[in-house]
Amino acid sequence: MVATRISGNLLHYDFSLLPQYLEVLFAKLRIAVVFGGSGDRESSVIYKTHNPRSWKSYEVVAREIAKALEEIGFKQVFVMPDDMNLPEQLQRENIHLVWLNTGGVQGYNPVCHTPALLEMLGMPYVGHNPLNSSTLDNKHAFKRELQSVGIKTAPFMIWHPSQGILRPNLHERFAIAFDEYQGPFIVKPVSGRASLHVHFVDKIEGLSQAVSEVHRATHNTALIEKYLPGREFCVAVCGYVTYAKCGFSKNPKPFAFSTVERVLESDELIFTSMDKKAITADRGKLMGAEEPQLKQELIDLARKIYWEFSLNSLVRIDVRSDANGELYVLEANPKPDLKRPTENVTSLVALGLAEYEMSYNDLIFSLLADRLDYLLTQHIGIIPHIAALLH
Ligand SMILES: Nc1ncnc2c1ncn2[C@@H]1O[C@H](COP(=O)(O)OP(=O)(O)OP(=O)(O)O)[C@@H](O)[C@H]1O
Ligand SMILES: [Mg+2]
Repeated sequence: MVATRISGNLLHYDFSLLPQYLEVLFAKLRIAVVFGGSGDRESSVIYKTHNPRSWKSYEVVAREIAKALEEIGFKQVFVMPDDMNLPEQLQRENIHLVWLNTGGVQGYNPVCHTPALLEMLGMPYVGHNPLNSSTLDNKHAFKRELQSVGIKTAPFMIWHPSQGILRPNLHERFAIAFDEYQGPFIVKPVSGRASLHVHFVDKIEGLSQAVSEVHRATHNTALIEKYLPGREFCVAVCGYVTYAKCGFSKNPKPFAFSTVERVLESDELIFTSMDKKAITADRGKLMGAEEPQLKQELIDLARKIYWEFSLNSLVRIDVRSDANGELYVLEANPKPDLKRPTENVTSLVALGLAEYEMSYNDLIFSLLADRLDYLLTQHIGIIPHIAALLH
């Protein structure tokens, strides 16, 4: 049936063909789910160096994604780390497509290393391109871009270790960012995860020490921003193709879902690291019909970010409100946790799938199908090895 669509070597594609192409790919497409390699493993790197971002392998979740792909019907799924052996491994296993579930191994801007490597190798992937990976994982770079497209984010400044000790009262930059504002502040790494090294600083006098602590822990730039005292939310957003109720649809807008309030305890100023406290039902509350306007505002915000940054893979956007309830974007996570939900523990992304009658596997299938649809629509000429499978 597919062959009838082919003239010469040209493969025709439109969205209506996606299900039948996937039927063919189930058996043939060799997918590698890639997790974060450890610089401690022998022969993983040439020289072990420093990672400014707290390292995590994400292997458990990579295996959950791989299992979902198998349950969906893909017969050839592999799981491997992204250390220096990755190109050889991909070639040896004759991989056609990579699913990135990694924050990188080490070094600066580690989140962009593997997509950059895959770009060099000519390997298509599910994940963000190197520029978006880096922009999203560097909170200050992301915030600057947010400002340029008129999306609200807390006023901020950055301080790099080479700039010495921060003396807020002496620096013009501080006055430009904060004017007369005296605190409280948040000081955090520009590239971080799981609320690690995030400091609440009540008064200007405490800033210098908090910045030095971030420098010591990360050897990287510290971000100083106004503390937002309001409620905290997150919302996930991915591409235009979704799989739900046993069928695909291609929507005119990105799919924004799982609008969740991150519930803080009364004395909890910042959301406790999920490394310390798992995301349970009482920590992440799915927004229902009680506040339809607020929910829609979060969905619109997520879609706007997806569009403005030309994203083409999943992000989870973290948002906090000020004392007046106005929403400010904290960050967008380029590799949000995609843990398969269990009875007690879930992920912020998977929490709201039931609202769309979607399962975890449906989300995984949506992310893969969206990327294949994008590649086949926009880039068919540069994925000849996948097009060849469809002949
Ligand atoms: N400007 C701010 N005002 C109030 N709280 C903040 C601010 N910035 C960060 N926080 C708190 O610190 C937490 C972690 O911050 P952020 O989301 O920026 O970093 P992260 O460590 O990358 O988080 P994640 O766990 O989402 O990966 C937030 O969930 C929020 O509770
Ligand atoms: Mg966050």
